[in-house]
Amino acid sequence: MSTSAAKGAPESPAVRAEALREQLHHHAHRYYVLDEPEITDADYDRLFQELQAIEAAHPELLTPDSPTQRILGKVLDGFTVVRHAMPMLSIRTETDTEATGAIAFDARMRRELQLGETDPPIEYAAELKFDGLAINLRYEQGVLVQAATRGNGEAGEDVTQNIRTIAQIPLRLRFLTSVRAELVEAPAGPELAEGAELVEAPPVIEIRGEVYMRRDDFESLNERQRELIAQGRKNEKTFVNPRNAAAGAVRQLDPAIAAKRPLSFFAYGLGDVQGWEIPPSHSAVLDAIAAMGVPVSPDREVVQGAEGLVAFHRSMGAKRDSLPFDIDGVVYKVNARELQKKLGFVSREPRWAVAHKYPAQEQTTVLKGIEVQVGRTGKLTPVAKLEPVFVGGTTVSNATLHNQGEIERKDVRIGDTVIVRRAGDVIPEVVGVVADKRPADAEPFDLYQRLGGKCPVCGSDVERAEGEADWRCSGGLFCPAQRKQAMLHFAGRRAMDIEGLGDKLVEQLVDSGLIRTLPEVYKLGVAKLSVLERMADKSAQNLIAGLEKSKHTTLARFLFALGIRQVGESTARDLARHFGRLERIIEASEAQLLEVNDVGPIVAHSIRTFFDQPHNVEVVEQLRACGITWAEDEGTADSSPRPLLGKTLVLTGTLPTLTRDEAKDMIEAAGGKVAGSVSKKTHYVVAGEAAGSKLDKANELGVTVLDEEGLKALLAGD
Ligand code: IVH
Repeated sequence: MSTSAAKGAPESPAVRAEALREQLHHHAHRYYVLDEPEITDADYDRLFQELQAIEAAHPELLTPDSPTQRILGKVLDGFTVVRHAMPMLSIRTETDTEATGAIAFDARMRRELQLGETDPPIEYAAELKFDGLAINLRYEQGVLVQAATRGNGEAGEDVTQNIRTIAQIPLRLRFLTSVRAELVEAPAGPELAEGAELVEAPPVIEIRGEVYMRRDDFESLNERQRELIAQGRKNEKTFVNPRNAAAGAVRQLDPAIAAKRPLSFFAYGLGDVQGWEIPPSHSAVLDAIAAMGVPVSPDREVVQGAEGLVAFHRSMGAKRDSLPFDIDGVVYKVNARELQKKLGFVSREPRWAVAHKYPAQEQTTVLKGIEVQVGRTGKLTPVAKLEPVFVGGTTVSNATLHNQGEIERKDVRIGDTVIVRRAGDVIPEVVGVVADKRPADAEPFDLYQRLGGKCPVCGSDVERAEGEADWRCSGGLFCPAQRKQAMLHFAGRRAMDIEGLGDKLVEQLVDSGLIRTLPEVYKLGVAKLSVLERMADKSAQNLIAGLEKSKHTTLARFLFALGIRQVGESTARDLARHFGRLERIIEASEAQLLEVNDVGPIVAHSIRTFFDQPHNVEVVEQLRACGITWAEDEGTADSSPRPLLGKTLVLTGTLPTLTRDEAKDMIEAAGGKVAGSVSKKTHYVVAGEAAGSKLDKANELGVTVLDEEGLKALLAGD
């Protein structure tokens, strides 16, 4: 990568612009694809603005792949049709969701390849089946020149303008002399080793993959849409699922609107290629694509035979709910391209690939009744009572209807057959009605009337602010339902993660009057707790230990735990990343808050309003006085032990009890850093089952390798 010239050496605008483009491409890849930024957002903005200024002064220096060109062109009348240089195929689907689907595929492949029982197992590339829409990215001389939808497979629509707004998709590929030789492992696949050289990119490389929307992005998009509808914007709508929302965004004629819909991308193959030698296996193709700077899912494996496929199907099935995006199955591909050629095609489908499905995330069932629940901020949510239905891998009998407005917009009536969606750890929801199955006696529902204007828990008046979608209980923390929810949210796994403080206990603590405010949670002692019925000494000790442990947290978790309206996990992370310190967030003006990625006026206003209430700032201070600390304020934090301060760890393989997220959180809470690849600077590699090349690398470099037990000992300061 070029760097700025030495002081004093005059640098032409052309040279400086190219250097800035290189740096911005590099940092955008670190940030959006690898999720491991090396510089602050502010430094990135400075480089960006410098480039913008040069381009404004010297328009002849503007290149189509300049990072400044992610900004938007004009509204389109319609999309131009483009013929694909190579048809975009589909894959055969194995509908059998049991392991037998994988066994049948392997048996078919062995038959087709005329392999006998004594022949070795076939090698497969196993990957996820992303639930979005297929896109072909055409790069000429390494520069993105066209993006097209699949269409009918022969010809699709030119959606280049909209695809260019997806930050994860590079406008320019990184190209290397020898892709294999100069790679090191990183979370999103191999990346350029230090000192490796960039060379001229080949004339044509088409990369194919799926544009999708993450579930959290989908949830916040729909949340925003519901607000807009409540404010009277009649032509806005909510989306049924992330795929639907992603497809709508890609085919949106106004690129400015498309840009506001948060989209992501994973590559899964190639299209037309000219002047580049394609690696000999599918897995190597994906490694090479990742090395070019295009996102490739890390959840892929090279496996042997039916056994390997079955294991992959099972392990991804177990992981499905915790992935941040929807998948509807896994895909198996014969890995060797030579064997793929031998197997060939049947009509429009390659014989060498198959999609193996998981249970559907949408089902229909009957709506038997509607109940009203009081949430953390007093929000009154109509909850559908359903005829139990198996959806997204579990049986669902309750689903959210969101609010009265949504009930009316979707025209949901009691007795209707409704469509229920359950994906990941998102609360199941009613997304629509099957109109032609409506019985004659289906009954409309009106929330306000049903409640007689009073909160069903505390009897306070219910109210709805101008332009808001939701009715709320006006009782505030006087309402026991609100107090309990606020506490549960605070203690939750994704927030302060207080072990031992669950539903039942919060219920008792609030009902007995032992706790009225959040900081009081940290003042619970065994003596206080022993007042509670059924509270054994042991559970009291456990809770106290849980409280102690929760005090080492991160700024993002703490912010999320406060339960500020509109501040979900990802906004909390963005705020923490942007401001670095809590004091700066507390003091930030709405204008400063708006500078944060994804923070709009509603969110900014809500944050400002929260910290404008003196009692909220007081709660924050009291909590910190209880000993809550995080890494960002090393200088001022108390003397709590930080056994991993200054240490860099790398995680690989599956640990016996901890998820990757949990291990990472624990390491960070202890002051350590988690890196994506092993180098001489790595202090420890934590390896679990099926650890891959990172473990080999650790051994090669003599880096200490730990198992989960070893990590825990380290965290405990042993
Ligand atoms: S490969 C030659 N791999 O599923 C094979 N497709 O019918 C071409 N999809 O429209 C497709 N995840 O949009 C492939 N890992 C994956 C995929 C995947 C999702 C979609 C793709 C295509 C459809 C296949």
